[in-house]
Amino acid sequence: LDPKLAAYSTADPTSFAWPTARERWPIIITQAIDDAYRSVGSCDDGAKMEEGKKIVAELAQLKYEVQHDRALTPIRDDGHPDVAGYNNELAQLGPITWHKAPWLFTECYLFRRMSTSFALSTHWKNYDVFARQKIKTFRSSRPAVLELAARYKDLVTQLRSPSSASHDPDADALLFTEMCEVCLWGNATDLSLLTSLTYEDIQKLQGSEARRAAEQNILVNDLPQVYAHLLAAKNDPAKAGKERRVDIVLDNAGFELYVDLILAGYLLSAGLATTVVLHPKSIPWFVSDVLPGDFASLLNALADPRGFYETATEEDQLQGVEPERLSEAEVGELGFLFAEWSRFHAEGQLVLRPNRVWTGPGSFWRLPGEAGGLVEDLREGELVVFKGDLNYRKLVGDVAWDPTTPFTEAIGPLGPGSGLNVLALRTCKADVVVGLKPGEDEKLRQTEGGGGDSGARKWAWNGKWAVVSFSKGT
Ligand code: F6P
Ligand code: MG
Repeated sequence: LDPKLAAYSTADPTSFAWPTARERWPIIITQAIDDAYRSVGSCDDGAKMEEGKKIVAELAQLKYEVQHDRALTPIRDDGHPDVAGYNNELAQLGPITWHKAPWLFTECYLFRRMSTSFALSTHWKNYDVFARQKIKTFRSSRPAVLELAARYKDLVTQLRSPSSASHDPDADALLFTEMCEVCLWGNATDLSLLTSLTYEDIQKLQGSEARRAAEQNILVNDLPQVYAHLLAAKNDPAKAGKERRVDIVLDNAGFELYVDLILAGYLLSAGLATTVVLHPKSIPWFVSDVLPGDFASLLNALADPRGFYETATEEDQLQGVEPERLSEAEVGELGFLFAEWSRFHAEGQLVLRPNRVWTGPGSFWRLPGEAGGLVEDLREGELVVFKGDLNYRKLVGDVAWDPTTPFTEAIGPLGPGSGLNVLALRTCKADVVVGLKPGEDEKLRQTEGGGGDSGARKWAWNGKWAVVSFSKGT
C-alpha cells in the first residue's frame, strides 16, 4: 500500500538518515539513559530502584546495538497489540541492521523499542523518559510565550467586542494566516534537532520578528485555500447550529503545543470551528512529541506562572542564577490563556484523543486499511491539520518523490476523493519534499549549506524552510 518508490534509507550517505542513525540516535538514547539514571538515583523504593537499573541497562544495550550496526530484533510482547504490527513488518523487511534500513520504519522502531523496557516494568510503566527535556525547553522559550500571550489576549478580546461584526475581511484573512504561521514555526523547535541547536538559536526562531522574516521561507503556502474552505463551512446555512470540527494531529510538546493551543483557541473564538480535537501520542515519541500528560503540565504551568517561571531549578541553583520575576501584566495574560483554554476543555470544545495508530511503524497511506474507524471519524470534521516533520514524512510515505510531485498525489489514499481535508504545517527536517515549483529544489541546493552538487538535499534538513500544503477531500 505504500508508495512504490525507494524509501529513504540509513545506508544512503546523501540522506539525512545517515547522520541521524550514526550520530543523532546514539545521542538521543544517551539522553534517555542519563534521565532514567537520574531518576533511579532519587528512588526511595528498593524494588523500583532495581527495576530502574534494569531499564538503564537495556537502554545501554540498545545504544550498543545501534552504534555497532547490529540486527533489529523483534520487539518483546509488552501487552500492547501494536507489537505484532512492528514485528510482522520487521519479518517482511528481512534481516536488517541499523545502518542499512528504511529510515522511517527504523526510527519508529527505535522509540517503540525503548518504550517496551518501561512497559514491561511495574513501577515505571508510565514514565516519560523525555519529560525533563520537554519542560526545560518550554521554560527557556519564555520570551516568545509571553509575547504570544499578550497578542492572544488582545485579539480574542477584539474578536469578542461588539464592533467585531463589522470586521474588515482582509484583516480577518490576515489574522488567520498569522495564527497558522505562528503554529507552523512553533514546529521549528523540536528537541530531536536540539542535538545541533542551542537555546539561543531556539529563542531566535520563536519571536514575531523572526516569523515575519521567515515568511519568505515558506516554499508552498496554501493557507488562502484553507481559509476559504473554513469560512465557507462557517457561512454554509446547512451547517448552521451543527458541529464544525478541526482535528490537529499534534507533534511536539512545550512551545509547539502552546502555539497549537493558540491556533485552536483562535479558531474557536473566531467561529471558524466549534470543536477542536487534539491527537497526542501514547508513548514517548521522537523525544519531544506530546503525551496526554504534557497537555496537563502545560495547563499547570499556566495556572501558576509564578511557580513555574520564578522558582529556581536545580540548574539555576548550580549556576547561581536568580529567575527573572514576571510583571503583573504578564501574569494576567498567562492567566487569561489558562482561563480560556481550561474553559474550552471543560466544555468539550477542546478535546484530547490519543490513539496508538499514531505511533505505528508505517506511513499514513495505510490508515484507510488499518484504521478505518479513525479515518471515518476524521471525515466528519472540516479539516485535519498534521503538524511537523514526522507527520509529513508519514503522509507522503518518506520516499524519494520528485520534488515537483503534487502534494495531493503524494499523500495517496488520503488525497482527493478520500473525504479528508488535509493540511500539513511542516518545517522541513528530512529529505522528502513535494509540491515545489520546477527548478526550486535545484536553486535551494545552490544556496549556502544547501547541499550543492553533493547529491544531498541539505537545505531541507534544519527546519529553516517550510511547506504548508492543503488537499481537499472532494
Ligand atoms: O531531524 C529529523 C527528525 O528527527 C526526523 O527524524 C523526524 O522526522 C523529525 O526530526 C522530528 O521532527 P518533528 O518533531 O517536526 O516531527
Ligand atoms: Mg516531533
